[in-house]
Amino acid sequence: MSRSVEPVNLADYEALARERVEPGAWGYLTGGAEDEVTLRDNLAAYQRLRLLPRVLVDVSSVDPATTVLGQRVAFPVLLAPTAFQSLVHPEGERASARAAAAAGTIAVVSTMSGYRLEDVAAASPGPKWFQLYCYRERDVTRRLVERAEAAGYGAICLTVDLPRVGNRERDLRNRFSLPPTVRPRNFEDFVDLEGQPNEVFFEYIQRLVDPSLTWDAVDWLRSITRLPVLLKGILSPADAKRAADHGVAGIVVSNHGGRQLDGVPATIDALPEIVQAVGGRAEVLVDGGARRGTDVLKALALGAKAVLIGRPYVYGLAVDGEAGARRVLEILKAEFELALALAGCASARDVPRELVRR
Ligand code: FNR
Repeated sequence: MSRSVEPVNLADYEALARERVEPGAWGYLTGGAEDEVTLRDNLAAYQRLRLLPRVLVDVSSVDPATTVLGQRVAFPVLLAPTAFQSLVHPEGERASARAAAAAGTIAVVSTMSGYRLEDVAAASPGPKWFQLYCYRERDVTRRLVERAEAAGYGAICLTVDLPRVGNRERDLRNRFSLPPTVRPRNFEDFVDLEGQPNEVFFEYIQRLVDPSLTWDAVDWLRSITRLPVLLKGILSPADAKRAADHGVAGIVVSNHGGRQLDGVPATIDALPEIVQAVGGRAEVLVDGGARRGTDVLKALALGAKAVLIGRPYVYGLAVDGEAGARRVLEILKAEFELALALAGCASARDVPRELVRR
């Protein structure tokens, strides 16, 4: 990377990544559903919120660390599961998991990773959670959960906002399809990959996605694993309450980065009511649109235990592999530490609600 374009923030990484990623993959990575109203609002909603700092607080030492489901993290930012990272870098999920470990945080690894979940686990010593879709064929789902447990993943994150894939018009326009080198390798055990075009696997996976899924699936999942279960893709306080009633350990307030149902609220706007509905019975995390340390601070003030980022670390990966993803995390951590100090908060574990003015 030339010195003149040394990126200083996450937007810089996005601009650099755009120059490197092939247009079809770029549309898949950055795009949202239909008019992308929710995609834009995820970012705009953070910018609408104002911070009200306190002064004359001793912030000579600021502690950005916290815990998420009992796991210590160096700062409250996790890597959200994003599919097929080998689209932007040959090391894909292996590199991003190592970047998370280096930054002292958790990588949530997608079911649709370009490497087998065992390979990602072997590549990085850091803490990892496994993101799962609950498939029509329960045996496939069960096998994936067993494999994740055996490989040392610390939690199962069940994504519940994808009964069908959203209408992503950039991908339609670009006639986007995965290059032959990028494959959902976790499914190699269930379907023969050799010599088959990718469409065969997509049809297979599309058929596996179960649109008839209901809350029973959450009970079933909890019954087959000793790992804590999180539900990702909750936007309604009623669903959040129900998730807590079903004994989940965590909820990720998420609209899938604006890629599923367009027109749903920005996640940071949905967060406060969900925190209230859950009433401390599960940990509440949030993802979508966080691009600054101040965004992380706002989410914590509104009751989130931590924030997940999706696209930004994939941009880092596209620009400079593991080092790029790590740098994205380092920048966000430095911004967050500074925001804590400037806001008069000595610890990420104690961010008062009054800090945010709506
Ligand atoms: C995703 N997301 C996602 N979520 C999930 O549960 N399983 C998956 O396989 C994927 N794949 C995926 C691919 C790409 C390219 C993107 C951008 C997103 C959603 C992801 O976990 C997260 O919810 C959003 O990315 C958060 O929004 P930001 O940080 O990208 O704005």
